[in-house]
Amino acid sequence: MNLRIAVLAGDGIGPEISVQGVKVVQAICEKFGHELQLEYAICGADAIDQVGDPFPESTFQVCQKADAVLFSAVGDPKYDNDPQAKVRPEQGLLAMRKKLGLFANIRPVETFKCLIHKSPLRAEIVEKADFICIRELTGGMYFGEKYQDNDKAYDTNFYTRHEIERILKVAYDYALKRRKHLTVVDKANVLASSRLWRQIAQEMAPLYPDVNTDFMYVDNAAMRMIQEPSFFDVIVTENTFGDILTDEGSVISGSMGLLASASTGEGTPVFEPIHGSWPQAKGKNIANPLAQILSVAMLFEYFDLQEEAALVRRAVNASLDACVRTPEIQVEGGAHYGTREVGEWIVDYIKQA
Ligand code: IPM
Ligand code: MN
Repeated sequence: MNLRIAVLAGDGIGPEISVQGVKVVQAICEKFGHELQLEYAICGADAIDQVGDPFPESTFQVCQKADAVLFSAVGDPKYDNDPQAKVRPEQGLLAMRKKLGLFANIRPVETFKCLIHKSPLRAEIVEKADFICIRELTGGMYFGEKYQDNDKAYDTNFYTRHEIERILKVAYDYALKRRKHLTVVDKANVLASSRLWRQIAQEMAPLYPDVNTDFMYVDNAAMRMIQEPSFFDVIVTENTFGDILTDEGSVISGSMGLLASASTGEGTPVFEPIHGSWPQAKGKNIANPLAQILSVAMLFEYFDLQEEAALVRRAVNASLDACVRTPEIQVEGGAHYGTREVGEWIVDYIKQA
């Protein structure tokens, strides 16, 4: 097929891992005979520095025309401790989500056998963890009415029926393809917005008789995720709860540097690692490129190019088995591979497969 991919490398370690992701896309397209067109565009702090806008119109245009966006990371410490800053790199990410209508954020939490010892949880608790968080991405407090002056401030957790129904539908479709267990996470004992979520989920559940739907308050879900992560199959929740729970999910697997995500909805889908821009590591060739590379696998899966995706996943697993790993996941005494070296090893594996 013809694939037009927008590449948004962003800040910090973004550019380094982006290069590795792009090389993998190229190697796969070459092997399977897909026509590939890459278009590069700026975002985040890099774009603020260049044009004063973290998601400029020109970048939006590039994304809109593409079939998919391969995104890396945005964020720069010079904005973190300045509450007065008028523009922030993160606003670029939010603008991208909103403008492309990416209401569904898919974050799989899976474990890799050889990395289970990196989990803060005991192996027997975490080893069977395998679930997906479906996070609503363009509503709730992130985008509801806001106000701030010196004495008071508020954010509004606003949701419409339409927004809730469409994300629940995505979640049910995932549940049907997996172990058919959907957990709707909310705070319906306190929040009106959550009560509407629960009401609508209860209306929809009978339409999916094969799926076992249950409901859990978010505080309880946070606890359960630590005590018994294998309980979960598909979790669906609103934007803010999903933000928090997916960070929790990413560390319990012991492999934050390996987790990828997809944001889908109305416009061009975006594929990105779930980790951030790790500014301290910028330019040091030490960042793990695997989450970016696995986001390439998710990209191919989105287009139902299953063989292509499977080869990317095989290559990643082979690199782990061969202990071709960046320092933070290397075994004791194992050689240290850099971002580039891991990427090159994986590309070679793909070429020879
Ligand atoms: C994420 C990030 C973003 C969010 C930030 C960078 C705005 O934490 O993708 O989870 O809160 O959604
Ligand atoms: Mn987050």
